[in-house]
Amino acid sequence: MSQSSTQPKVFVARQIFPEGLDRLQQFAQVDYNDHALALAPAALMERLKSADGALVTGSERIDAKALEFAKQLKVVSNIAVGFNNFDVQALTKKGILATNTPEVLTDTTADMGFMLLMAAARRLSESERWLRDGHWKNWSLGGMLGVDIHHSTIGIMGMGRIGQAIAKRALAFGMEVIYYNRSRLSPEIEQACQATYVSKEELLQRADHVMLVMPYVPENHHLIGTKELAMMKPTATLINIARGGIVDENALALALKNQMIFAAGLDVFEGEPDVNPRLLEVPNIVLAPHIGSATKKTRLAMMHLAIDNLIAGLKNQRPPNLINPDVWKMS
Ligand code: GLV
Repeated sequence: MSQSSTQPKVFVARQIFPEGLDRLQQFAQVDYNDHALALAPAALMERLKSADGALVTGSERIDAKALEFAKQLKVVSNIAVGFNNFDVQALTKKGILATNTPEVLTDTTADMGFMLLMAAARRLSESERWLRDGHWKNWSLGGMLGVDIHHSTIGIMGMGRIGQAIAKRALAFGMEVIYYNRSRLSPEIEQACQATYVSKEELLQRADHVMLVMPYVPENHHLIGTKELAMMKPTATLINIARGGIVDENALALALKNQMIFAAGLDVFEGEPDVNPRLLEVPNIVLAPHIGSATKKTRLAMMHLAIDNLIAGLKNQRPPNLINPDVWKMS
């Protein structure tokens, strides 16, 4: 279809799958940043100037500054469930619809959390490095001893969709599930997950494995620091699949080095893609480059959902995953 000036203008901030680009080009004039790298803030601001809609990822910071000259922007669609890269207040103030991609990534991300938990508890990365480095000469009774996952206690902090999916996986391993959340879940959900609500302190003290899955809101910044790590068991693991800023990475590196906790598994980092060099120095940690939702099926589903949201907003329809319903009420 030929592009016409009556079509909306859509800015795509990062490389997407070709089928997504095809969909958008059927409907809009597309300004495509065909790169895997995030744009610098000034370039992002420039490209948002003439856009009616924008498709972005968790790496683009959409705040008042980025939106300063975005006079015709109606909808910003995030290809991510987390939206801490959005200043929702600034978007709402400007009457811009903001959307995300929940649900389609729940099970894939829960799998990732469980994989990191198993890899950290059973020292998988450390063992593989050791093997590749040619150290494996004999099987030994006391070699590479880890801690058990089955029949242990998992403490899930942040019991939304992904937290609940992790709880269900944990039940299959005979684990006891305790959780902490901003608000307590309904008895039906607690029952389905066989999960017991506890305080943050009790969770840290009782859990054999602590799993972080909560949203990164300001009150969760460095929620896990020296004090919290000191409350955990020396045999415990800490897994973070939420956002890097939830954990004080310097404190974590020190706790791992001093064996204050047994091991950690991280998929997210405070300064990602930069990784705190102190984390790279400790052996008892499994590191992944933010791949929680990274299967082809799930990433495609996220992209399509984000495009559905974007197109709905541009067609003056309520996007299925609207983050700021106040904007809809105002329109
Ligand atoms: C990934 O981290 C996401 O929020 O979708």
